[in-house]
Amino acid sequence: MATYRLPLVSTGAPAQPGDLLDADSSPEEVVIAYHERTKHHFHRYAASPGYLDWATQPDPFRRYPGADLVQLLLPKPGCPLPYWRLYTPGEITSEPLSLESISLFFRYALSLTAWKRFHEATWSLRANPSSGNLHPTEGYTVLPAIERIGDAPAVYHYAPKEHALERRAILDAKAWSELCAPFPAGSFLVGISSVHWREAWKYGERAFRYCQHDVGHALATLRIAAAALGWGLVLLDGISDTAITGVFGLSPCDDSETAEREEPELLALVTAGHPLMSLKLLNELAMGTIGALWYGRPTTLSPEHRVEWPVIDEVAQATRRSASAPITEDFSRFPAKEELFEVPIRHGLLTAEKAILGRRSAVAMDGSTTISQEAFFRALARLMPTRDRGSMPWDAIPWRPRIHLGLFVHRVDGLPPGLYALARDPDKLAVLQQAMRRQFRWEHLPSCPSGLPLYLLQEGDCRALAATVSCGQHIAGGGAFSLGMIADYMDSLTTYGAAFYRNLFWEAGMVGQVLYLEAEEMGIRSTGIGCYFDDPVHEVFGITSREWQSFYHFTVGGPVEDTRLTTLPAYHFEQVR
Ligand SMILES: Cc1cc2nc3c(=O)[nH]c(=O)nc-3n(C[C@H](O)[C@H](O)[C@H](O)COP(=O)(O)O)c2cc1C
Repeated sequence: MATYRLPLVSTGAPAQPGDLLDADSSPEEVVIAYHERTKHHFHRYAASPGYLDWATQPDPFRRYPGADLVQLLLPKPGCPLPYWRLYTPGEITSEPLSLESISLFFRYALSLTAWKRFHEATWSLRANPSSGNLHPTEGYTVLPAIERIGDAPAVYHYAPKEHALERRAILDAKAWSELCAPFPAGSFLVGISSVHWREAWKYGERAFRYCQHDVGHALATLRIAAAALGWGLVLLDGISDTAITGVFGLSPCDDSETAEREEPELLALVTAGHPLMSLKLLNELAMGTIGALWYGRPTTLSPEHRVEWPVIDEVAQATRRSASAPITEDFSRFPAKEELFEVPIRHGLLTAEKAILGRRSAVAMDGSTTISQEAFFRALARLMPTRDRGSMPWDAIPWRPRIHLGLFVHRVDGLPPGLYALARDPDKLAVLQQAMRRQFRWEHLPSCPSGLPLYLLQEGDCRALAATVSCGQHIAGGGAFSLGMIADYMDSLTTYGAAFYRNLFWEAGMVGQVLYLEAEEMGIRSTGIGCYFDDPVHEVFGITSREWQSFYHFTVGGPVEDTRLTTLPAYHFEQVR
């Protein structure tokens, strides 16, 4: 068995902030320059403050003083949905729209799940994970009139600390019903924005990437929350960023505003039935004129910003989306569900709620827990879209996978440790083989389900290697397996333009979120890894072309709990339930 070795990690002075390219550069050139500039190298990390300026630490909870607050109830525990049923959309009875169902939707998607305490310090955790626990993601919704929420259609901001909705605008009922006429009754909109500053405060230039990962995680938690309620959710990918800004009232009220800007990210449609696209809705939204009277002003999150990161604004600008025709791609050559899961999974003690609210990142891995092949194959099969487009959460996005996995397998019962690859788009297998090291074996193991495009590349102990390329983090070598998410980068930018740079991170975040929940199902833990050395990861897999780039890392394994921390309930009203 080979043992891989790479040079030891060393840190150097951060790069100096500056312009990405000149004014004539295309948006794609700006993206490529940003991506190159924000790579971590063995000898130099991407530019960041290098210390934590506690006096300007951003508030993780934005509020809109002046907007009415609608408290969401925490529903009484009802019939617990088994975890595996999340993955059988269409078979779960749709909940009617009500205060309780909307409350549960946000509870599962974006709410607090615990407070942690260590000595005098307390911090909260949420259903959606976040790089550095900084939570740049803000959630919004446009709801029809719902008893005890509002007697007119309205735009709301979700306030996670209170588990409440802030009513930001009341809409004209006639305009709203015309807009929603093509959709099944009970449809509504949900959206996400990012406050870049929250991540940039700690991580500097690389923060834009982390914000986008967090959007991907949140898109998955929204889709999964909808699935738990028997609802569908689709990304409205043809919507312009201007429209999203208009719908959620994200633009600053005036120039004197000190509140940090929110970057529009995405808009999704939630419906009780199978969502249909409506060009009318897309176009109306593109005009950004559905809002009527706006209430409340966003709070300022930091008293001052002592350092700015202009390249984040540049890449944000280069990746803004204008209104476009929705993406349609052909999935007919993807595997059927039966080819991915040879034995259907219809048992298990874990409830969906326990997996969703109990999800946590491992802060350390035990270096000993082994998982079964079945659990490993099942977790990877959950990452595959199916031919019928029915696999959750992949039914929420219209593009074929652009994120493939380069795996470091350490401890999976019966599988040789070593490097593996999962070609999430089976049609990309040949190009991936060409892009990676020529000596790789590309062996489909006999025990692997026939439709799962998982291949053994090379046997060997890669624990030290996995940790080294993940910024020396032991969690990448101490789990059962870890992985790098290899993006079909240049082809995606060529096909869909610079704005799709964001989508690549979103897809990577969604992959991460599915694995987070699968780890819970296995009774172990996992952790997203945003800190990795980009080019050394490419070297491991023999990738020399810029066409393919690593976009995110992830590890799954037996955790070591930090027993010094006290865990407190997320909401005080939970205690009296
Ligand atoms: C995009 C992203 C990148 C992350 N990168 C790292 C990392 O490099 N190392 C690490 O230990 N944890 C990492 N994490 C885990 C976060 O620290 C964790 O999600 C956060 O502290 C909240 O804790 P929770 O996931 O238990 O809710 C990352 C999480 C995300 C979503």
